[in-house]
Amino acid sequence: MRKKVVAGNGKCNTTLQEGIELAQTVNQLVTEKGDKNITVVLCTPFTHLTKVVELVDGNRIGVGAQNCAAEAKGAFTGEVSAAMVKSTGAGYVILGHSERREYYGETSEILNKKVALTLANGLTPIYCCGEALETRQAEKQNEWVKRQLDETIFQLPVEEVSKIIIAYEPIWAIGTGVTASTEQAQEMLAYIRGLIADKFGKEVADKTSILYGGSCNAKNAPELFAQPDIDGGLIGGASLKGEDFLGIINAY
Ligand code: PGA
Repeated sequence: MRKKVVAGNGKCNTTLQEGIELAQTVNQLVTEKGDKNITVVLCTPFTHLTKVVELVDGNRIGVGAQNCAAEAKGAFTGEVSAAMVKSTGAGYVILGHSERREYYGETSEILNKKVALTLANGLTPIYCCGEALETRQAEKQNEWVKRQLDETIFQLPVEEVSKIIIAYEPIWAIGTGVTASTEQAQEMLAYIRGLIADKFGKEVADKTSILYGGSCNAKNAPELFAQPDIDGGLIGGASLKGEDFLGIINAY
């Protein structure tokens, strides 16, 4: 059976002290009251990784970065490599988030390098895809998402693809308070699973965790997570409050 995953994307929020406090709260709530069948991941700013890895119960909470360098090492001032992320004890890296694609010019070519380095370092990529509002309005969302996957992770050999968690995040739903309807989310995730089945076989498709992200909260999560193809969520805003995040973790 595939894993159910609830991953928090802390984005560029919290100082180190605030991040530690939040991780402590989440750790306490998850270890005391969290659904044990859910893989919980906290994707923190780079500066918080080491501390957060130390303070959470590693059996219950995974820790991840929100990005990594496209190069292994060397003269790339300001970059943080996949090996550095791994050396903190983190296990995951969010890649291809729409904010990185849009504000930092991350192309499929760049993302392919990042995915390869992430996998080579034994980290699990949480690979994001999703369309903008104009694309959805033009009813071109399926072609858009297919291209994002075809140009990147679908180029990988099957044994690598099966290590990846996919997150579908329609850009128009991120941080806007507008969630995709349950039908829209289920339809897209079923479509993505179908693409994986066509390319890599049904067994791989059935094992791949595919998450929904975009204004997911404790209220809408139960309905979203009840859908057959929605294996959890990538959570931005609601992951910054312990009780809200716990509510989503316990939404299954
Ligand atoms: P949101 O962000 O939950 O605040 O909409 C989700 C994300 O960007 O991963």
